[in-house]
Amino acid sequence: MNVEKSDLDRIPLAPGGLPLIGHGVKLMRNPLGLLSSLPEHGPMCRIQLGTDTVVFVSDPDLTSQVFVADKVYDKGGPFYARAREIAGDGLGSCPHDKHRRQRRLCQPAFRSDRLPSYVESMTRSIETTVQGWHDGKVIDLGVDLSAMTFRVATLTMFSTSLSDNQIRQFGSDLSAIAHGLLRRTALPAIINRLPTPDNRRYAATTRRVRQLAASVIAERRGDQKDRGDLLSALLEACDEQDGAPFTDSELVDQVFTFFLGGAETTAGCLTWALYLLDRHPEVQRQLHEEVDSVLGGRTATREDLPSLPVTNRIITETLRLYPPTWVLTRQVTADTELGDILLPSGTKIAVSPYVIHRSEQIHEDPVAFRPDRWIDTTPHHHRKTFIPFGLGARRCIGEQFGLIEAALA
Ligand code: HEM
Repeated sequence: MNVEKSDLDRIPLAPGGLPLIGHGVKLMRNPLGLLSSLPEHGPMCRIQLGTDTVVFVSDPDLTSQVFVADKVYDKGGPFYARAREIAGDGLGSCPHDKHRRQRRLCQPAFRSDRLPSYVESMTRSIETTVQGWHDGKVIDLGVDLSAMTFRVATLTMFSTSLSDNQIRQFGSDLSAIAHGLLRRTALPAIINRLPTPDNRRYAATTRRVRQLAASVIAERRGDQKDRGDLLSALLEACDEQDGAPFTDSELVDQVFTFFLGGAETTAGCLTWALYLLDRHPEVQRQLHEEVDSVLGGRTATREDLPSLPVTNRIITETLRLYPPTWVLTRQVTADTELGDILLPSGTKIAVSPYVIHRSEQIHEDPVAFRPDRWIDTTPHHHRKTFIPFGLGARRCIGEQFGLIEAALA
């Protein structure tokens, strides 16, 4: 194929960018509106985030190529640049050359024999949340569910190492950081460095949570007991290839990776699921019937989940329509061809599960909420095009954890 070095110019520029900020304000104000408009410009188009040019890939096949070739399309770009400010080189944000060791070290923490103790923390947190609700009470579902999933994340990570007050403070700090991340991704780096009250608060919150995590890790180093929590599994982990465990600072990065990767995502899935159920009373009725007949009023356990197909389909369909990780960025590490375009090393890439999931090439009536579409097919059959958990070597390590938590809730 005869491709020129200046190929980036052949990719159309999305309209509506502003001087200096580019499409950043649009992305912050109406992210899904902006993303949904991009496929009409072709399989790839360029957007501008501050001074960064980002190539947005909206074609399903090209998107899966980006995911799978994780050495060439490495973690990078504006989202991961900001994520590294909090989670350093943790599993989710580390570059390819550090990834495989970290994945080997983290994997045992998600083995199925460790799940029962995490499920116990999930059930406890779900009950605490729901017990605070009663008929007639007005709640902000997003806030309550986010507090619930942060509580689950904190209990599964640290079990009994934090007091109730510390858990609450930790959860609200982490939620503030997760929300700040999107804003900081959309804004030029120079604005993020200004000493504004927002930026100073963000920096102080990040310092506070990292210090707390570091102090728990230091305390637990001295105590070899396996408490069944994620931290015990991470402390015990030894790399089968070089025999080395995680260092303290790697562990702090890992802790934040799991909090940032696992809590808001699951809360987002649940919030959208309840929103969609509210707007689709017929599906809501099917869910109630299933839950009443299988559980008869008792709390669900992990063993019940295979007997709850309607519940599982609702979660799948929610993740299709509203994937919590709706955009992801990468950075090209060597000149490479994508489609018929030569992308030079350093090109920043964005892909969107949200856009792929709503493609008419893949689903009939793609914007409709129809959990029954998953009766005759499964997410596995759509491995490359149902991608709420990503694809390839960087696929979500907490997929089962998140799906179990959502279904139990
Ligand atoms: C519904 C819930 C969840 C969704 C939708 C979700 C989504 C994702 C996605 C899309 C990725 C790939 C990111 C990329 O390729 O750049 C990912 C990676 C990751 N997720 Fe999740 N996630 C969920 C739950 C969780 C949970 C519960 C945890 C931890 C307890 C977790 C931890 C991680 C980690 C550590 C990675 C990085 C994996 C790697 O690079 O090897 N996630 N997640």
